[in-house]
Amino acid sequence: MRYISDSAERTRQIAAELLKTFPDGATVCLDGEMGAGKTVFVQGCMQALGYTGRVTSPTFALCNEYMTEEKKIMHYDLCRITDEDDLYSTGFYDSDADLIFVEWAGANCDGFENAVHIRFSYGKDENERVIETDD
Ligand SMILES: Nc1ncnc2c1ncn2[C@@H]1O[C@H](COP(=O)(O)OP(=O)(O)OP(=O)(O)O)[C@@H](O)[C@H]1O
Ligand SMILES: [Mg+2]
Repeated sequence: MRYISDSAERTRQIAAELLKTFPDGATVCLDGEMGAGKTVFVQGCMQALGYTGRVTSPTFALCNEYMTEEKKIMHYDLCRITDEDDLYSTGFYDSDADLIFVEWAGANCDGFENAVHIRFSYGKDENERVIETDD
């Protein structure tokens, strides 16, 4: 599927819709340039899950953890991680999260079994973004 978003708010709505299609325990790989809307997308999903805290790019922390009443969600940003060993050392493979978001999954993502892939790119103007899924 291909969605055209004309605002950050619309991207959050699209995220809330796509969230319903993610299987239990899903790893959701988010790829695309800086500022393309990956974190905004995670914000939309977290809002839909009832999370009221702040959701920001875990660029320096590598990983943020969010708890809702029902779920544990991990939010990775792997932009500074380039190989599988480094991914291993973030604790990624020990995670017992109900849902995992991975920004800049890139090449690391090849090994992610059953991951959902979502691609973000810039559209024709400042506020337009293209969001693509595999199906
Ligand atoms: N249609 C849109 N969808 C999403 N964000 C938009 C849109 N239009 C404008 N924006 C703005 O673009 C920026 C997207 O930033 P965001 O942090 O989500 O990008 P990112 O892909 O996570 O980047 P990074 O790789 O640096 O983490 C925000 O400032 C947001 O307000
Ligand atoms: Mg981000």
